[in-house]
Amino acid sequence: MNPKLLAPVAVLIFFSAYLLVECSSIQGGAEIYLTSLGTVEGKSFFYDRSASRNWVQARQYCEEYGMELATITTEVQLQYLKSKHNATGFNSHHWIGLRNARNLSAMAWDDTDLPVGNLTTAAFANHATDLICGAYRSQTAPALEIWPCTTGSLGVLCQT
Ligand SMILES: *[C@@H]1O[C@H](CO)[C@@H](O)[C@H](O)[C@H]1NC(C)=O
Ligand SMILES: *[C@@H]1O[C@H](CO)[C@@H](O)[C@H](O)[C@H]1NC(C)=O
Ligand SMILES: *[C@@H]1O[C@H](CO)[C@@H](O)[C@H](O)[C@H]1NC(C)=O
Repeated sequence: MNPKLLAPVAVLIFFSAYLLVECSSIQGGAEIYLTSLGTVEGKSFFYDRSASRNWVQARQYCEEYGMELATITTEVQLQYLKSKHNATGFNSHHWIGLRNARNLSAMAWDDTDLPVGNLTTAAFANHATDLICGAYRSQTAPALEIWPCTTGSLGVLCQT
């Protein structure tokens, strides 16, 4: 390599190493609380317990880290999360990727609780703006809870 190039390259390497150290210290420090809960059925869960986000912010937060809001789709995943309850760590309410239907065919008739079904000749329009959203509550007996999506004080459960 041309010796004139060595100094800038060395500076670049130095700053890259510096940035790596800096990022990991911020992630383990006070500003970001994303903590790994390990992997089950090929999916890795991370939680943030800062309890400072509404559902939309929680979804953006996961996306910022290349993840998505967690889904809990099997008993195995639920039991795994249950086993990760920790009174000083993974505790209390965390937003998950659960919300009410924005899709007419996913709504239910009030008298039977059965889905609308396939009235395929009806046009579909959604004029609702309010969503209700789901949270996973980590405690010794875990719970799925419904909250107004605008509640701004829950933790976040992401998956990748
Ligand atoms: C519980 O969470 C705290 C805070 O993250 C951590 O320091 C501790 O090691 C955890 N305990 C267990 C048993 O995982
Ligand atoms: C609505 O929900 C049904 C059932 O989950 C799904 O099959 C369909 O693709 C959805 N339609 C739209 C427009 O999202
Ligand atoms: C959809 O329509 C078909 C044909 O009429 C019917 O067999 C089926 O049960 C319907 N599905 C639902 C979910 O209503």
